[in-house]
Amino acid sequence: MQKLDLGFVRRQFPAFAEYTLAGQAFFENAGGSYPCGAVVSRLGEYYRRLKVQPYYDFPASSEAGEWMDASRVRLAEYLGVTPPEVHFGPSTSQNTYVLAQAFRALLNPGDEIIVTNQDHEANTGAWRRLAAHGVTVREWRVDPQSGMLAESDLEGLLTERTRLLTFPHASNLVAHINPVARITARARAAGVITVVDGVAWAPHGLPDVRELGADIYLFSLYKTYGPHQGLMVVRAGLLERLGNEGHYFNAGDPSKRLVPAGPDHAQVAAARGIAEYFDALDAHHGAGPGGSARATRVRNLVRGAEVPLLATLLEYLGTRRDLRVLGPSVAEQRAATVSFVTETIEPLEMVRSLARLGFMAGNGNFYAVRLLEAMNVNPDRGAVRLSLLHYNSSEEVNGVIEALEQILDTQTPARRARQGDAG
Ligand SMILES: Cc1ncc(COP(=O)(O)O)c(C=O)c1O
Repeated sequence: MQKLDLGFVRRQFPAFAEYTLAGQAFFENAGGSYPCGAVVSRLGEYYRRLKVQPYYDFPASSEAGEWMDASRVRLAEYLGVTPPEVHFGPSTSQNTYVLAQAFRALLNPGDEIIVTNQDHEANTGAWRRLAAHGVTVREWRVDPQSGMLAESDLEGLLTERTRLLTFPHASNLVAHINPVARITARARAAGVITVVDGVAWAPHGLPDVRELGADIYLFSLYKTYGPHQGLMVVRAGLLERLGNEGHYFNAGDPSKRLVPAGPDHAQVAAARGIAEYFDALDAHHGAGPGGSARATRVRNLVRGAEVPLLATLLEYLGTRRDLRVLGPSVAEQRAATVSFVTETIEPLEMVRSLARLGFMAGNGNFYAVRLLEAMNVNPDRGAVRLSLLHYNSSEEVNGVIEALEQILDTQTPARRARQGDAG
């Protein structure tokens, strides 16, 4: 497999040249990645040169519209879908909210939908609210210890009345890669529409959505090196069956039906930069045919760089008897996001200590409250999360391991002493 040129990669991200960020290794990528330079410069140029109402017949306006269209075309290429199947919205939370409204046109009282307790609230709360419209909501539950969903449990939930199944490609905490293609195939055989939250997976290699078989696939561009936008793929033929959530007179325009907020022109236009970054990455690493072949090469390149880093981190965490890692311990089975809890130190304290040592990490419930509760983790206390991307280095991973060791080992004797004092 082609080895990633990390120096090249990091030169594509302005944050790595930013002196205010120097000396701090970034491990909160699952919250939002650094944007690539192509996105930053497109956003700046749009604001300087094209910040007018798009799609009119004067040069700045028509060029602004062309930029927006190009984003749809280029990202569709990396996702293995057609441009009209790509929709932008303010965020994934907003997109699922709008979709759930739009699905009311398809669902009748007594119809059933299946949601999980593994999802971020964005892909579960909006759907659960359909209960107010007479829809029966069934829950596909995780194993309390591993936090994983078992396909066998899904079988018991599917009935003749099931219309919709929503689940994550990977959870933003447990990070297990759900077998999406198998699950969507099973759902399709039962005549069930699938909505897959790909937010926690897409940054690790934009997937071929057609291959995954999802009817709807959502993710957040601000976590995939881009601007603060959500992207959803809605399979051709499905959109027209959903309610129109845009202005009534725009019902005939597919790009407007799911965007009641109206598009953020500049950010949609700048999203093309993500594809341009991937093009550059591919070109630097040897290139070859474009289209889906290029998308596959890029996917393999970034995943190939992440897995060894993730394996090193998981291996270390596995040696600590005082930690509970949420989700599988095998790197190949998960996205490069690792959450853990420990009795000995509050998650907030842990990330503060990490920050003092030059490591940016996250703590909290990460809006996966149902998942933490199901795993008997107090959501108010939450977990520590370390998430990495292909632009992280092995030095950073070794560094964060040393920092964790230092923090845990200074904490543990103090706690032992306290417990000793208490008798
Ligand atoms: C797995 C997952 N799904 C959905 C969301 C919500 O995305 P957005 O912030 O775009 O609404 C997040 C955000 O962290 C997430 O991690």
